[in-house]
Amino acid sequence: MTKILVTGGAGYIGSHAVVELAQAGYEPIIVDDFSNSKESVLAGLRDILGRDVPCHHIDCGNADALREVFRKEGNIEGVIHFAAFKAVGESVQKPLAYFQNNVGSLLTLIEVMNEVGVESLVFSSSCTVYGIPDQLPVTEATPTKPASSPYGRTKQMCEDIVHDVSAAPGNKLRTILLRYFNPIGAHPSAKIGELPLGVPNNLVPFITQTAAGLREKLTIFGNDYDTPDGTNIRDYIYVVDLAKAHIVAVQRLLDHKASEAVETFNVGTGHGNTVLEVVQTFEKASGQKLNYAIGPRRTGDVPAIYADATKAAEVLGFKTETSLFDALASAWKWQQTLK
Ligand code: NAD
Ligand code: WQD
Repeated sequence: MTKILVTGGAGYIGSHAVVELAQAGYEPIIVDDFSNSKESVLAGLRDILGRDVPCHHIDCGNADALREVFRKEGNIEGVIHFAAFKAVGESVQKPLAYFQNNVGSLLTLIEVMNEVGVESLVFSSSCTVYGIPDQLPVTEATPTKPASSPYGRTKQMCEDIVHDVSAAPGNKLRTILLRYFNPIGAHPSAKIGELPLGVPNNLVPFITQTAAGLREKLTIFGNDYDTPDGTNIRDYIYVVDLAKAHIVAVQRLLDHKASEAVETFNVGTGHGNTVLEVVQTFEKASGQKLNYAIGPRRTGDVPAIYADATKAAEVLGFKTETSLFDALASAWKWQQTLK
């Protein structure tokens, strides 16, 4: 079986990718320091897969520990690098921690991959690199904009690092940068899902926690934007669909089919929904009335963004399959297991 190292494999997106990898016949090996996840995720993975997934409890920014993982496991053929800190607001409070962890761990990972001769890397980037775009939908050729947060800058810097490393003489690294739009929902088994520590920053966990009575109400951050109902537009992608994109990406690298040393793909549905549409669809999918109110704009919010998903469809053969309704139903099912 083809061994794939999954850094951050106990996290929200990483755990769903581990399931898809295992079910597609790969052997995922998790590396996670559990800085933003819980060991209970491993039990959820075991329930779904009927076996344990190997997990190394280390910081992937620790070169010696990472080398030891490659040595112990032997013949790891590719790496999917999810491990990073991801809270935009926190990154403003703790910029050094974000640069250290997100940029530092990528540098260490590439260095160790070079040493051990592993050449295939899939990297978790983000639509945050587009900032406030001038045109919608955004394609991979849409110019990136200076990021509005240290978190966003770490993603831009990581993309730049990968490009510079790949352009150096003798480089063997092949990378696919996946720019995720807004992942939502949980595995249909409701054995794994999003586990926000503390008050959620993201819309869907805030909605499900409010419906579950854990939060009093959802505040919608502004309804005076230039959009059909005045609320922000995002491209919400079901996390299992997103996870599947990693399988086609890593296989493309293993097959040496990438046309350039670095390829970049948007991973979204290609459709935008407003915050109010998400709320209304959640109410239908869950059968719950949601307590919400319109509040002021949130500083730094992008008014509207959604993907042009053509390149991923044409080059990777990747298309999303799951509706917003079904994705939100899965998020609600998962939330109910957490009560
Ligand atoms: P997450 O926090 O749930 O998962 C990240 C995992 O990495 C966690 O389990 C955490 O414990 C682990 N981790 C962090 N630093 C580590 C380190 N140095 N060594 C080992 N493990 C470490 O986040 P997620 O939502 O699953 O995001 C995964 C990736 O996708 C991140 O790179 C994130 O920036 C990116 N991304 C996320 C979103 C989103 O909305 N969730 C959108 C775009 C991009
Ligand atoms: C979605 C919409 C809010 C909470 C963040 C990161 C970005 C990327 C994806 C990683 C927005 C509105 C939210 C609430 C609300 N992550 N909202 N009330 O803003 O698209 O992006 O996650 O790379 O970098 O910035 O996602 O889930 O925070 O918000 O009205 O309580 O929901 O204003 O329009 P966002 P989000």
